[in-house]
Amino acid sequence: MNITNQQVTDYINRFYQSPDRELEVLRKICEQDHVPIILKETEVVLSLLLDLQRPQKILEIGTAIGYSAIYFASKCPQAVVYSIDKDETAILAARHNVQQAGLSERIHLLLGDGQEQEEKLADSGVRDFDFVFIDGSKSHYRRFLDGALPLCRKGALVVSDNILMRATTVSDDYDNGRKHKTNKRKMREYVEYICSDPTLKTTLMSVGDGMAVSIYRGEHEQRSF
Ligand SMILES: C[S@@+](CC[C@H](N)C(=O)[O-])C[C@H]1O[C@@H](n2cnc3c(N)ncnc32)[C@H](O)[C@@H]1O
Repeated sequence: MNITNQQVTDYINRFYQSPDRELEVLRKICEQDHVPIILKETEVVLSLLLDLQRPQKILEIGTAIGYSAIYFASKCPQAVVYSIDKDETAILAARHNVQQAGLSERIHLLLGDGQEQEEKLADSGVRDFDFVFIDGSKSHYRRFLDGALPLCRKGALVVSDNILMRATTVSDDYDNGRKHKTNKRKMREYVEYICSDPTLKTTLMSVGDGMAVSIYRGEHEQRSF
């Protein structure tokens, strides 16, 4: 089930332009190989947010084969990107794609669980992120956020992708066979949390598979893991 009318999405996507030839080819490869990457309509909104925020330091949880990390680094020539994935095969493919794109110096690929790697970044003094993209396992978003906020500077944007999970977050009626019980419950709790945490100002959007855009107001400086 798509959360928006497919005709509307198709219409909007008629205006989508790939940022460059390499990313266009990589998107096609991901589509052919069924690698889940950011949807075109999600990319367009990310583009707007990146233009407004002009981040210097980007943190991503969920690299897959590197499409979005390469997109961030190409779109923001001033930025360094740290991207984490727990799947070794994915990280190896991402490393190859990042090298092909000539972005190895600005994209740091980290193998491991999102929150564990965030803790390592904190230990090694890598902080002051001003853009975070959460796109890992749907049932762990809260852990990824908890790991990310102490690394962020005040005013950072935190974008959480797929928060509507094909509308199953909204209602059990959309969950055929009731297969996604835990993911659904955890995503609902996550959405409640980011909408009520006073350190965040969150907007929920029905773009793509649903995205939440949160502005971090600060105050986690003293927080430990
Ligand atoms: C939707 S894909 C990411 C797509 C990528 N952001 C893009 O648009 O090109 C989700 C990725 O999250 C990774 N992942 C799942 N759970 C994770 C965890 N606990 N820590 C780190 N990565 C995780 C998966 O291995 C998978 O490659």
